[in-house]
Amino acid sequence: MTRHAAMQSHAGKAPPAGGEPGMAGTMAKVFAFLIVVLGVYLWIGYAITKMTGGVRTGGGVVDISPESGEAIYWGKGRCFTCHSVGGRGSAVRGPNHGQFGEKFPLPMGARAELRAAERSKKTGEKWTAVDYIVESLADPGAYVVEGYKNEMAVVYAPPISLSLKEIKAVVAYLMAQGGELDIAAIDSDPSPITKRFYDKIAAAQAAGGGDPTNGATVYEDNCSECHSLDEKPGKVGPSLSGIASKGIKYISDAILRPAKTIRKGYETWVVVDKTGRKTVGLKTAETAEAVTITKASGETVTVPRADIKTMEVDATQSVMPDDLSEGLTVKDYQDVLSFLMTMKGT
Ligand code: HEC
Ligand code: HEC
Repeated sequence: MTRHAAMQSHAGKAPPAGGEPGMAGTMAKVFAFLIVVLGVYLWIGYAITKMTGGVRTGGGVVDISPESGEAIYWGKGRCFTCHSVGGRGSAVRGPNHGQFGEKFPLPMGARAELRAAERSKKTGEKWTAVDYIVESLADPGAYVVEGYKNEMAVVYAPPISLSLKEIKAVVAYLMAQGGELDIAAIDSDPSPITKRFYDKIAAAQAAGGGDPTNGATVYEDNCSECHSLDEKPGKVGPSLSGIASKGIKYISDAILRPAKTIRKGYETWVVVDKTGRKTVGLKTAETAEAVTITKASGETVTVPRADIKTMEVDATQSVMPDDLSEGLTVKDYQDVLSFLMTMKGT
């Protein structure tokens, strides 16, 4: 509701004259804020590690083996704060990863085979046990184990921030719990499904370690009423299905300063009719008789050509509001960037 109002007031604003001194200040503030928040994240990660007595696996080389994975599981990865493995550990917030009592007749490696069969049935693709475990880490909300809440941590986002290599090592550790350990399937020769999840993790990390799962929600709430993620354009803006190819810097600019990167075919038209009424928006249709403008609100206005006094493109403003980032927390902003970096087209 409030955003709608903001959007309309934006649409009604006179085009800014010249250099926009206020914008540079806002940008500087946003970036300074980003740096501070990153610092806080690092500090929180450090503080939590100290508080819970966990061990940090040094920043050194990680080899992709169950042994490395074990060190990460019981250390930097914080898995032990929610999971146990058989009789080792005491956390019960997440499923036990070992064989344990009646509730967990199969250890994780073997259990993953059964879950993979379920995933194959649901998606129509052929899933392996490794695919399932990798999915648990890459997109924890996609399959929520019965009897548990969707509260598995996003372990490649701050403050845990595991690297892709560390994640692979943890997968090896879990597969070694009663499963068929095949390092090639985890590392050098991943299945298409696993590869997709690895790409998602890598993209999220390239985008500053945001959480694309939350980013999808941020997108839904703030962007989806104008944009689309499939081939067809959105209601007011272009499709963002392949936007990742333009790179993180471009996307970030497109959100912070939409007018700087106006996409071809999405120019801002200003139509003034003979009564002086001004309509600002995208030109979405035109015939010999009339021109149709779609405003930022989604409302369309058709003006007969005979009534038009002037009609021109205003390159200093975009139909996309330039104050969207002000309504987002820094985390949401990073998360939506990560999410868009996973949009690689179809
Ligand atoms: C904040 C608590 C939390 C942390 C930290 C956490 N998990 Fe989880 N995990 C859960 C919960 C809750 C579930 C069950 C819900 C679901 O399936 O998403 C789960 C589910 C899983 C599953 C699927 C289990 C099954 O029986 O199918 C795997 C695999 C997994 N986690 C691995 C890990 C690994 C590896 C780490 C550390 C790198 C980790 N988790 C860190 C809470 C956590
Ligand atoms: C009121 C409608 C509207 C909303 C809301 C909106 N956009 Fe846009 N967006 C547009 C329009 C129109 C364009 C094309 C003009 C331009 O490039 O500035 C655009 C362009 C873009 C582009 C550049 C596309 C390209 O290929 O150059 C990106 C990236 C983008 N938007 C991301 C977002 C994100 C992320 C959000 C939510 C946080 C969002 N937009 C919200 C209307 C909107």
